[in-house]
Amino acid sequence: MSTNARPPYSPARLSSSRISPWPLSEDSASSQENEPTVRTVAIFGAGRVGTALARVLVAAQYDVRVVGSGPASAIELIVSVLAPGAVALDAAAAVDGADIVILAVPLHKIDSVEFALLRGKVVVDVMNYWEPIDGSLPDFAGVQATSPVVSEMLAGARVVKAFNHIGYHDIDTDGREVGHPERRALAVAGDNEEAVALVLEMVHRVGFDAVYAGGLAQSGLLEAGGPVFGVRLDRAGLEHHVNQDVPASR
Ligand SMILES: NC(=O)c1ccc[n+]([C@@H]2O[C@H](COP(=O)([O-])OP(=O)(O)OC[C@H]3O[C@@H](n4cnc5c(N)ncnc54)[C@H](OP(=O)(O)O)[C@@H]3O)[C@@H](O)[C@H]2O)c1
Repeated sequence: MSTNARPPYSPARLSSSRISPWPLSEDSASSQENEPTVRTVAIFGAGRVGTALARVLVAAQYDVRVVGSGPASAIELIVSVLAPGAVALDAAAAVDGADIVILAVPLHKIDSVEFALLRGKVVVDVMNYWEPIDGSLPDFAGVQATSPVVSEMLAGARVVKAFNHIGYHDIDTDGREVGHPERRALAVAGDNEEAVALVLEMVHRVGFDAVYAGGLAQSGLLEAGGPVFGVRLDRAGLEHHVNQDVPASR
């Protein structure tokens, strides 16, 4: 059965940038003058995924702010060592003026994030429901996709699912320049066109082909137990899955 995940966007137009650390492909020369739409990213979570994303985003010349579970002073050292160039800030200061907020906290800790701060923001949900780590979470048990639940919790935020189906260690190592035969594709799912476009651009700029995977309701396909979770796929392979497969219940 098809998910009917038709991309309303054209990822091809995201194929180059002045700030991209990746050499530009020949066919992207026409867009070399593109300015990045997003400059400032706040990441909640200074753990494995949060710091890996901070590193690649710094390399792609974003201004990166990292928020910990406590005061900024508690993660200053770890951020300076694991993601040089990123800055540790308290939540309110990090979110203020951020174009994108990434939630890279364990799902069972989501309630410890001050949701009101995220109102009106583009929020990237990289979280997975992993019962051995998260325990049993009644809000998420049995759902086909966790991001719609996250979206309901974060009323007023525009939630986009991305970076959840790649291991943190691969975020550092698997980025490639446009056109490289080993360039890996990563999926982006969401319901808000503008928010999805910003995240597609961000995925591209950190070295991956960005594939639109449908709305949040379809994002279960990207989660644990789904066909793309932890699997290295190029654009054609990932597009095949997002167009042909349906998510399983958790
Ligand atoms: N590991 C992977 O390869 C991978 C890949 C894709 C997606 N994910 C998903 O990404 C999420 C994070 O995974 P992870 O492996 O990075 O976990 P992790 O290494 O345990 O890091 C999570 C971090 O979030 C912090 N945190 C908790 N509550 C917070 C809050 N309210 N504000 C800011 N920071 C807070 C934790 O701080 P404290 O330790 O002080 O609580 C910890 O530093 C999970 O949902 C996971 O399923 C993981």
